[in-house]
Amino acid sequence: MNNSAIGVFDSGLGGLTAVREIVEIMPHENIVYFGDTGRVPYGSKSRETISKYAGQDARFLKKMGVKLIVAACGTVSSVAPDLSDELGLPYTGVVYPTCFTAMNTTKNGKIGVIGTAATINSHSYKRRIQEKHPEFEVYEHHCQLFVSFVENGLVDPDDELVRLMVQRYMAPLKESGVDTLILGCTHFPLLAEAIGREMGPGVKLIDSGKETAIYTKKILTRQGLLNDSSDKGEARFYVSDTPADFERYAGLFLKDSPSNHVEHINIEEY
Ligand code: DGL
Repeated sequence: MNNSAIGVFDSGLGGLTAVREIVEIMPHENIVYFGDTGRVPYGSKSRETISKYAGQDARFLKKMGVKLIVAACGTVSSVAPDLSDELGLPYTGVVYPTCFTAMNTTKNGKIGVIGTAATINSHSYKRRIQEKHPEFEVYEHHCQLFVSFVENGLVDPDDELVRLMVQRYMAPLKESGVDTLILGCTHFPLLAEAIGREMGPGVKLIDSGKETAIYTKKILTRQGLLNDSSDKGEARFYVSDTPADFERYAGLFLKDSPSNHVEHINIEEY
């Protein structure tokens, strides 16, 4: 047993889709979250820059004394190196658990992947799926604009702008006949309703934040690191830009607003 917090990071708000699931399935766990809101988006940046940012984010969380680090970011998970050796801590990204569920979900062997530009250009999800199932067809499409919409709270499926954007980006995937669609960026589950409406009921959406939270529980269980307290866990949030913007939109992701615990840090120090 280990009652230290789970560390979770993302470029901004997206990783909160993993946090909300962690809170749901492991209510006694404490969480330290870092959202790199001063440098979002990651998905349009180079591999070198994304790797540098991921290292700084993880080092900050390690300094906070966490027991495991979750890179709740499809982009970091796709292009930055695995940091477990450097950190000396259990570490996971989102690609492995998300692909695992998608492979077990598809019936027709046609899987769609949407993510940031960096994620899609890396082919990380496609490679992982085809390593195991070379016969599966994987259709990839980048939706970098979704990140900006989500960071600005534009997620209402009835909003005409949201509907048109989703319609345009989903068109090639609709044509491909996929029955399973990986939301390979942790920001995208916030647009799940709009995406689901566009793709129709025959397409199962796989939420990378949720799948990663479930996998995190497996790691903690396997390594005997679960929190044995019977109290409700606490969450602390840190950001690299003003806490006000984060507080404003975080309620979209989490049922309880984290407003009382958001602090600014200088990530360049890590
Ligand atoms: N939420 C992130 C991801 O899963 C990053 C989005 C971005 O910063 O571009 O890819």
